[in-house]
Amino acid sequence: MHEHDPNHIIDLRSDTVTKPTPAMVKAMSSAVVGDDVYGEDPTVNRLEEISAAKMGKEAALFVPSGTMANLIACLVHCNRGEEIIMGEAAHTFLFEAGGVSALGGMMVHTVKNQEDGSMRLADIRSAIRPDDDHQPRTRLILLENTHNRCGGVYLTPGYTDQVGALAKTHGLAFHIDGARIFNAAVAQGVDVRHLVDRSDSVTFCLSKGLCAPVGSVLCGSRSFIAEARRARKQLGGGMRQAGVIAAAGIVALQEMVDRLADDHIRAQRLAAGLQTDKRIFASYKPNATNMVFLSISDDYPITAVELVARLKERNILVGDVAEKSIRMVTHYWIDDMDIDQTVQAIHEIIAAC
Ligand SMILES: Cc1ncc(COP(=O)(O)O)c(C=O)c1O
Repeated sequence: MHEHDPNHIIDLRSDTVTKPTPAMVKAMSSAVVGDDVYGEDPTVNRLEEISAAKMGKEAALFVPSGTMANLIACLVHCNRGEEIIMGEAAHTFLFEAGGVSALGGMMVHTVKNQEDGSMRLADIRSAIRPDDDHQPRTRLILLENTHNRCGGVYLTPGYTDQVGALAKTHGLAFHIDGARIFNAAVAQGVDVRHLVDRSDSVTFCLSKGLCAPVGSVLCGSRSFIAEARRARKQLGGGMRQAGVIAAAGIVALQEMVDRLADDHIRAQRLAAGLQTDKRIFASYKPNATNMVFLSISDDYPITAVELVARLKERNILVGDVAEKSIRMVTHYWIDDMDIDQTVQAIHEIIAAC
C-alpha cells in the first residue's frame, strides 16, 4: 500500500493518527464554503444531511471533536445536578477531562463494564434513582460502541435495543458515543441504523478510522439538534468556513467505511502473530474490531513503558495503557508488512530480555 523506507514509522498508537487520504486533500482544496454559524456553508450542510440519513435521524451537527459531541449531548439531555449512567470504563468518564461535571454540573453514576463492553441491564436498572427529594435525578444512559477500553469491542443491535427499551420505560434519554460506530457496523455486517435506532442521540467520529483530519457529527431529532447548535456555540465550537474540513468528512463517509473491515482483519493478524509466545498475552476478543491489547506476564521483567521505548527505537509506535499492558490500533495507514514487522519486533524484544 505504501513505501517501506528505513524512516517509515509504523504508528499503532491510535486510529486518530490517520492523515487525510489524497481524495480528501483534493476535496478539501476545492470545497465550496460559507459561514456555518449562519448555516451558510453548503459543504457542512451536505455532510450533516448525509450523516443524519446514514444514522436514520432527523438532523445532524458537525462539531470539532468527539469529546465536544458527547458533552453537547449531555448538556442538551441533562440539567445541572442530574445524573448520567455510563460504564466505569467509558471514554466520557475516563478521558474527557470531566467535562460533563466541570462544565455541565452533572453527576456521573458508573456501572461495571463487562468484558464484552456491555453493562448488565440489571446493573443499569439498579443505578436508576428512585423519585426521592434527597437523591439526584437520573436523566440519561450513555453507551459506547465500539467500546475503546474494553478492547475496541462492538455492542450488538439486540443489546442496544434492550438498553433503549429500558431507558424508555424509565423516561430516560439514551445517548450513544459511537466514535467508532462504523467499525461496529462493519464488523457485524449490519446497517449502522440498527445500532442506533432506539437512541435519542448518537455521535460518530470522522477523524479516527475514517481518516478525516478533524471532526465528529452529532445526530438526533430536529429539536435536539437545534438545542445542540446553541450548546456548540456556548462552548465556542461554532466554526465559520468549516466546509474545508467537512469536505474530507464527506469523502470519509462515502469511501472509507467499508474498508474498515481490512483494519479488523489486520488486527486479527497482529493478535494471531503474537499468540505464539506464552510470556505475552494478545487479547482480541470475539467482538473486537481494530484494537489489540497486549499484556506481558507478571513474572517477566519488562514493563509496558520499556516495551513502548524499545519498539520506538525500531520506528514502531504503540501506547502503554497499564503497567504491563499496551494497546495497538490498526487503521488505513497500516498494511500487512507493518503488521508482520511489528509482530517480529515484539518477539525479538521479548526474546532478548
Ligand atoms: C470512544 C471514544 N469516544 C470519544 C472520543 C473522543 O474523541 P475526540 O478525540 O475527537 O475528542 C474518543 C477518542 O479517542 C473515543 O475513543
